[in-house]
Amino acid sequence: MTKTAILFENIHPVADKPLLAAGLTLERHGAALPVSELHERLAHATLAGIRSRTKMNAEAFAAAPHLLALGCFCIGTNQVDLDTAAGRGIPVFNGPFGNTRSVAELTIASTIMLMRGIPHRSVAAMRGEWRKNAEHSHEVRGKKLGIVGYGNIGSQLSVIASALGMHVYYYDIEPKLAHGNARSVGSLDELLEISDVVTLHVPDTPQTRGMMGAAQFARMKPGAHFINQARGGLADIDALAAALDSGHIRGAAVDVFPKEPASKNEAFVSPLQKFENVILTPHIGGSTLEAQAAIGDDVAAKLARFLDHGSTKGAVNVPELEPGPLEAGRCRVLSFHRNAPGFLSRFNDAMSASGANIAAQRLQTLGELGYATADLEGEIPAGFIDHLAALDGAISTRLICG
Ligand code: NAI
Repeated sequence: MTKTAILFENIHPVADKPLLAAGLTLERHGAALPVSELHERLAHATLAGIRSRTKMNAEAFAAAPHLLALGCFCIGTNQVDLDTAAGRGIPVFNGPFGNTRSVAELTIASTIMLMRGIPHRSVAAMRGEWRKNAEHSHEVRGKKLGIVGYGNIGSQLSVIASALGMHVYYYDIEPKLAHGNARSVGSLDELLEISDVVTLHVPDTPQTRGMMGAAQFARMKPGAHFINQARGGLADIDALAAALDSGHIRGAAVDVFPKEPASKNEAFVSPLQKFENVILTPHIGGSTLEAQAAIGDDVAAKLARFLDHGSTKGAVNVPELEPGPLEAGRCRVLSFHRNAPGFLSRFNDAMSASGANIAAQRLQTLGELGYATADLEGEIPAGFIDHLAALDGAISTRLICG
């Protein structure tokens, strides 16, 4: 049977190369498809690639009986029913670092623009006003950048800011390796009190939601700047508007909002729209062509590796296992199974009974799911894989031969 990778939503063309090299036939769609059409196309998909607009719910998985793996060519995987996928032994891959650099670059650009007082001068110039002065206009060199969340983006930003001569401080709930001369501080309050620019790079969690409210803005240095290019729920927008109104916060750059338009046809409304010292952007922190290419490359390579030799490295919903490329002359059994006592002995008994020699074996579990691989040497008897697939506890079983 022809193996087909179906890519929806205009995924970057760099994704084609690894998928073609893995022997797949490609089918491409420029947009997300209506549900009935999506289900029709999925009926013959071996692999599928989506972005955020294609909802892969239980019905979509039911419509895809041959699906081996799903690639989310984006960062988030909220659009996918991950449990249903795991229950079928279908790994779901995403591209978590593809747009890290893009966000960090926007944050550094925003830092420079805010500290120079560019937004209000630019808006004024458009109106015909010539605000040629150096009032509240600063170099970033020697200033303190306070990073909340020193993960992928926060630490990348730290490196760029240090190169510009900024003094970098960060606050994270986890211990993190400081890059260059960056220094960690013990609390958010401490970070707010010392920073000339405070920038958020944490996920949206019950702990971080609303972490910047009136009390936190009041703690910031008078005349400091604030940046949120992480998630809309982290900062209280009304409290930020009040701090901008009073002049306590001199400027802000905001890319993410508590309520964002669902499409370009919906109007964007925010209490921040009245401030000329604010940079507003439509959640495009990670939206660059380079990021799309990086994600296309990353996710397609993960899909191809899973098809080619069973690697689940980088999967978000199944045990991660990297069995490495398959040696020539060997066959590899890939088995997703229920993580319950007894399965492995049934699995191994069945392999011993086949007469093939087990040259290598690996197992990883995650919650109720187990993933085992075994490399076999010698003749594989007819019906062997069907026998393994019928074992009590087996979820999905595949055989690849080198
Ligand atoms: P990451 O997971 O690599 O780093 C997040 C860091 O925040 C971790 O080091 C974690 O320990 C820390 N953290 C978690 N809770 C914390 C708390 N309560 N206080 C202090 N630190 C805390 O995430 P990454 O990739 O750096 O992304 C950061 C944010 O940027 C996420 O919210 C992500 O959704 C957002 N983002 C926004 C984009 C945009 O288009 N504007 C694009 C990409 C990411």
